[in-house]
Amino acid sequence: GSAQPLRLTVIGTGYLGATHAICMAVLGFEVLGIDVSQEKVDRLNAGEVPFFEPGLPEQLAKALDSGRLRFSTDYAEAGAFGDLHFLCVGTPQKPGSDAADMTYVDSAVTSLAPYLDRRALVVGKSTVPVGTAARLTALLQRLAPAGEQVELAWNPEFLREGYAVEDTLRPDRLVFGTSSAWAEEQLRAAFAPVIEGGTPVVVTDLPTAELVKVAANSFLATKISYINAMAEVCEATGADVHDLAAALAYDDRIGGRFLKPGLGFGGGCLPKDIRAFAHRAEELGVGQAVAFLHEVDAINRRRRARTVDLVRELAGGSLEGVRVAALGAAFKPNSDDIRDAPALDVSVSLRRAGAIVRVYDPQAMDNARRSYPELDYADSTMEAAQDADVVVLLTEWNEFREIEPDALAAVTAGRGIVDGRHALDPAAWRAAGWTYRAL
Ligand code: UGA
Repeated sequence: GSAQPLRLTVIGTGYLGATHAICMAVLGFEVLGIDVSQEKVDRLNAGEVPFFEPGLPEQLAKALDSGRLRFSTDYAEAGAFGDLHFLCVGTPQKPGSDAADMTYVDSAVTSLAPYLDRRALVVGKSTVPVGTAARLTALLQRLAPAGEQVELAWNPEFLREGYAVEDTLRPDRLVFGTSSAWAEEQLRAAFAPVIEGGTPVVVTDLPTAELVKVAANSFLATKISYINAMAEVCEATGADVHDLAAALAYDDRIGGRFLKPGLGFGGGCLPKDIRAFAHRAEELGVGQAVAFLHEVDAINRRRRARTVDLVRELAGGSLEGVRVAALGAAFKPNSDDIRDAPALDVSVSLRRAGAIVRVYDPQAMDNARRSYPELDYADSTMEAAQDADVVVLLTEWNEFREIEPDALAAVTAGRGIVDGRHALDPAAWRAAGWTYRAL
């Protein structure tokens, strides 16, 4: 190793990459963030985080002030600057397929490689089908002037949106997939401040590191669908899934986290990761091993349909012309991310069934308006609820938990509420004269 502090590039400055670049600069490294979008680069250089993430704007200000962070669109600069290059571009679901779209990963590698003319480590962080690292190693070493001096490692990222800063500075664990002692040394140096904070490290091979990520997200998705499957059974028997989950959670081996029944999971990760994993396993001839993930997906989709049914029931059997106040658009609270958001999926289905849907979300309004211009929007809960026949809570923001049943009743036309996230106290709402229904 050299005496110089490591210089890092972070390729792709979305939710994951921007957070990683900013936090690494705060931890003391020289960091260059690369993105193909000039607009994103300009905003970040100006101190503006292009999405909603609590605490991140403050960290960006700190990092820019330190002089250790800047952003650029220039891959030549990245090659000249970096000792380690983190790949943080997205791997969304391919349209019309369950597979992951590798276009952005492949184009990041082919854009960077021609500028790698000295020893360097490329570190994949994106969520990818197992086997990608092996393929990218061959591609990199073929295209890079430094050839086999360029190595590839895999370091999956487990951060949650809404807690991105905390999860990056103090992750539960670090996973290093490497194929040489040198690569491990480089990663240990790049994460030294995090490791010194007590974070455990699992060092393993490339395919294991790629798999850890999808295995973790599949487990989390399965846990959510498990409790939602129990909710379906409860509904058929008059049992209470809320109490059931609370009782299960006392067993440490089960635990209460990710065991909240409701509208189910969405976002840019869990849904597409389980589909891409099942698809990849089929390609590898082990589709049967993870065939249950199709069931996990199906249970999750049924939650959305069931929510629409509950609203229809409260509306008296038909949604035609019914005014619905939809509280929530983001896929979860503390985020403005609407990728595969259950909330918007439900709102769109309600509208297709003839309802007039007015949506309010504390942070995701711009994203929702842009992607779903066919819906109506309001600037507050009260405005959304004005003259509504039915209210449906779809994303469990704190401000929705605090709604006063009487205050809401004063503006609505009807007194029916569907709590898609078990966020409200049924007794309080019923006492105020509401018909309260939950999944
Ligand atoms: C998820 C994982 O939790 C992260 O560890 C992972 O790094 C990330 O995906 C990723 O692959 O990048 P995230 O998508 O930010 O993080 O959101 P989660 O907090 O996991 O929530 C996912 C969805 O599950 C949300 O729609 C949430 O409302 C839903 N959920 C969560 C439930 O329906 N029930 C629960 O009990 C918990």
